[in-house]
Amino acid sequence: MATDSLSNVAASTANISLGEHAATRTSALGEVAIKTEDVGVFYNEKSQALRNVSLTFHRGEVAALIGPSGCGKSTFLRCLNLMNLEIPHCRIVGSIHYHGSDIVNDKINMFDLRKSIGMVFQQPNPFRKSIYDNVALAISRHGMASSKADLDERVERALRAAVLWDEVKDDLNKSAYALSGGQQQRLCIARTLALDPDVLLMDEPCSALDPIATRAIEDTARSIADSGISVIIVTHNMQQAARVSDTTSFFYLGEMVETGPTERIFSNPSDDRLKGYISGQFG
Ligand SMILES: Nc1ncnc2c1ncn2[C@@H]1O[C@H](COP(=O)(O)OP(=O)(O)OP(=O)(O)O)[C@@H](O)[C@H]1O
Ligand SMILES: [Mg+2]
Repeated sequence: MATDSLSNVAASTANISLGEHAATRTSALGEVAIKTEDVGVFYNEKSQALRNVSLTFHRGEVAALIGPSGCGKSTFLRCLNLMNLEIPHCRIVGSIHYHGSDIVNDKINMFDLRKSIGMVFQQPNPFRKSIYDNVALAISRHGMASSKADLDERVERALRAAVLWDEVKDDLNKSAYALSGGQQQRLCIARTLALDPDVLLMDEPCSALDPIATRAIEDTARSIADSGISVIIVTHNMQQAARVSDTTSFFYLGEMVETGPTERIFSNPSDDRLKGYISGQFG
């Protein structure tokens, strides 16, 4: 990278405003939720899409994964609940430590894993059902409610945790499709939270949303993490990473190049590729 370009980095990064408590939050991170060690992914035997990613995520932490298109962010995220294994010929190598197991190499119950490590996608994907049923069906499927009253209570708790309750409490029998995109996305978050996960994976959850809905999802992500869940969010939006996350990891060409407290990553990046990305030279 040209020296002139590098000297512009500080000025460019100064425009990225950090979340209110960014400086203090990382010192208060909870216990380890999930930890990867040298994780790699092959979609076929010839080319490796991801290599040697070692990252630790804590309870109470919002972790942002950033980097240019095609660098492996979604691939990595999909390793954390083994979604990649649904893709034919896809192979994961390395280790992922979660609740005392290595989920890559040990025999684990996939149904339980996906319950504890929830995932929210780019496009909101509610079921063609009522708002209530969208959440209740997930709870019933896992046999978590002991009575109708318990089910009602769990649905309300999940909708509150997804910061949607106040907007829908009088319309629970309305179709989920009648909600706005941002509300649908929070409904999908509620559906996931209803299963009491301890890790929530979000792959560009705001890419289809307007700025107001985006801020609502960011506030929701923050409040979910504050309740003790580990939230891992892929984003192309560096302002978003700066606003919402405690830690940021930068991916480039299938590798995790740099990780650290979000404030440090944006104010004092080390790697030239990260400097270039933050200053908008590519991506
Ligand atoms: N299902 C798949 N089969 C084969 N190759 C894939 C598959 N999914 C991703 N890849 C390849 O793996 C690499 C990483 O892709 P990935 O989708 O993880 O990137 P990304 O960082 O999430 O990109 P974007 O920001 O565009 O979403 C790319 O080269 C991509 O072509
Ligand atoms: Mg992606």
